[in-house]
Amino acid sequence: MNIKTIAVIGAGIMGTDVALDLASYGYPVILKDLDNEILEKAGEKIKKDFKLFKMMKKELKEVTIDDILAKITFTAGYDGFDAVDMVIENIVEEWEAKKTLYLQLDNVCKTDTIYAVNTSCISITKIGALTANPGNVIGAHFMNPVPLKKIVEVIRGYHTAEETVATMKEFLKTLGKTGVVVNDFPGFVANRVSHLYMNEAAFLVQDGVAGPKEVDMIFTHGFGHKMGPLATADLIGLDTVVKSLEVLYESYQDPKFRCCPLLRKMVDAGLLGKKSGKGFFQY
Ligand code: NAI
Repeated sequence: MNIKTIAVIGAGIMGTDVALDLASYGYPVILKDLDNEILEKAGEKIKKDFKLFKMMKKELKEVTIDDILAKITFTAGYDGFDAVDMVIENIVEEWEAKKTLYLQLDNVCKTDTIYAVNTSCISITKIGALTANPGNVIGAHFMNPVPLKKIVEVIRGYHTAEETVATMKEFLKTLGKTGVVVNDFPGFVANRVSHLYMNEAAFLVQDGVAGPKEVDMIFTHGFGHKMGPLATADLIGLDTVVKSLEVLYESYQDPKFRCCPLLRKMVDAGLLGKKSGKGFFQY
């Protein structure tokens, strides 16, 4: 299947950058969120992010922000969904929210529309079971920041058709990305591992073993990681990290995924990381 038109649902950290990336490769995109106020903020974020990515990505040299915005239709409704070949869903990491959305999607999309689920941890099989055509449902765990990352973790749910996997891999190539295909288990590969180390790093700070700067320095300067675990948690958003740990804990019933109380306290205090201006570090 040749993907021509795409709807991106959820215009937060991930959805805005997915829409920007798609538009920069010439795809017409419908970007949907809950209301116009959120969409206005999303438009501003796209403009701000574009400036940064343009400096860092040679493919954007000839592209202007007007080219990008001309490709994106912002909407709080479902206009145009009946014609899209693919939906890339990026709403909050909450099962009830995703469930409500997927139960509606079949009413507004074609029967062969591919549903690409961008989730940190939620089972693709479980989401597929909400739809009439689970063969069309696939995980597409984009990495943050989307325009700069060259891989996407592609997750094959229990019923995902091989044709859907092949279409997704071909489609990602058109964005200059490689799809790494893995099987479905909550957290997949990336977050089953990364959330353990981000959570344990938060415990280190909570227990007074070291400050955030020292914890991260050991990873950046010692292990050669590009970012330390706490800067990574700040980039993702501490609210999303907490929600993902809850999904992992609930799914595996394994105490190793219990969420660090300090992370919860920071979220309660509005310290969400980069998106709120303060988390383990100041932005
Ligand atoms: P976010 O909280 O920044 O944005 C979520 C957006 O979804 C919000 O704008 C919200 O208004 C909107 N939304 C909620 N319910 C909706 C609905 N029913 N219809 C339309 N829009 C709705 O979240 P973020 O960080 O962008 O994450 C989105 C998804 O991507 C989550 O499942 C997350 O686990 C996953 N993810 C996040 C990464 C990150 O670094 N933040 C990385 C990779 C995946």
